[in-house]
Amino acid sequence: MAWMKVPPWLFFLVLLGPQEGKGQSGEQEELDSKELMLVLGESVSLPVNIEEGEEIEKIIWSFHSTLAVIQQEAMKEPSISIVPDPRYNVIVNISDHTYSLHISNLSKEDEGTYRAEMNFEGFPGTITQKFILRVYRRLPKPKVTVILEISEESVCNVTLKCHVDGKGDEEEFSWTSLDPGAIVSDGGSVLHLSWRPGDSDWTSTCIVRNPVSFSSHSLPVEQFCTGPKVSSSTSCSSLVKGLFILLLFGFLIVGIIVTRHLIKNKESATRRIHRGLKLRKGVKRENLQVKEFP
Ligand SMILES: *[C@@H]1O[C@H](CO)[C@@H](O)[C@H](O)[C@H]1NC(C)=O
Ligand SMILES: *[C@@H]1O[C@H](CO)[C@@H](O)[C@H](O)[C@H]1NC(C)=O
Ligand SMILES: *[C@@H]1O[C@H](CO)[C@@H](O)[C@H](O)[C@H]1NC(C)=O
Repeated sequence: MAWMKVPPWLFFLVLLGPQEGKGQSGEQEELDSKELMLVLGESVSLPVNIEEGEEIEKIIWSFHSTLAVIQQEAMKEPSISIVPDPRYNVIVNISDHTYSLHISNLSKEDEGTYRAEMNFEGFPGTITQKFILRVYRRLPKPKVTVILEISEESVCNVTLKCHVDGKGDEEEFSWTSLDPGAIVSDGGSVLHLSWRPGDSDWTSTCIVRNPVSFSSHSLPVEQFCTGPKVSSSTSCSSLVKGLFILLLFGFLIVGIIVTRHLIKNKESATRRIHRGLKLRKGVKRENLQVKEFP
């Protein structure tokens, strides 16, 4: 007969199969694990909820090793033993049927899987509730570095680079801008746009997010390109350019007067002209500016 050809080890496997997951002391049941996104420095409660009518016998919370044990005998106050760390606490609310492990001042080291193994009266098995903790910082306000390039036609090319101080996980940058031609690069952190006189003001906003928070920084683009609201040393309007040309003329005139008056002292006169030339170079560099906005 065909079934006779089935190798005997297969029967052995079939017999073993359904028993997998059973412990020596009875049935083991694992509830769906709960994933919690938490904030650095804050606290969390890991509660086990007991159904009405169920009587808890024992709960063991563990993370790498055992953190706390609750033992409850009928009609008695529960006895609690816990690791000697002020950050851990067990909170029992009998009227609420809630038993919680409380962890305060969360740090990155607290990330991972916590287990609550529960035994109930009149039930031989163990039920395990898993909690997966992730800890993230609350994001500070992002900073923006502004790089301006102004072409001959007064086109103002703006590059805005967004960043946050410090290190963090799963932080995502994005930009919103009303400029239809804006280009976002570097994974969302850099925005390029071109502004022309007559364009409306394109306020641009950098947004940074992580699983527990988000933070943003808005900048009016027109302000960089027209200048009056920022100090003259960082602006780039044609008005300011004109002022620089006027200044240049001023230096030239002063230079000529000085040269004439001090013509006898050749050395001194030459030094002053050199100084004038240095200032002229300084003006040309004004076309490319970098400024950081905290
Ligand atoms: C216990 O739970 C009850 C019902 O939810 C609540 O009203 C009470 O404030 C809780 N007690 C403590 C100490 O948290
Ligand atoms: C919280 O933990 C950090 C280190 O993780 C420590 O520097 C700080 O003092 C702690 N704060 C409190 C209130 O315990
Ligand atoms: C400004 O950007 C455009 C493209 O966005 C580019 O073609 C142009 O050369 C840039 N001008 C300056 C002065 O950088």
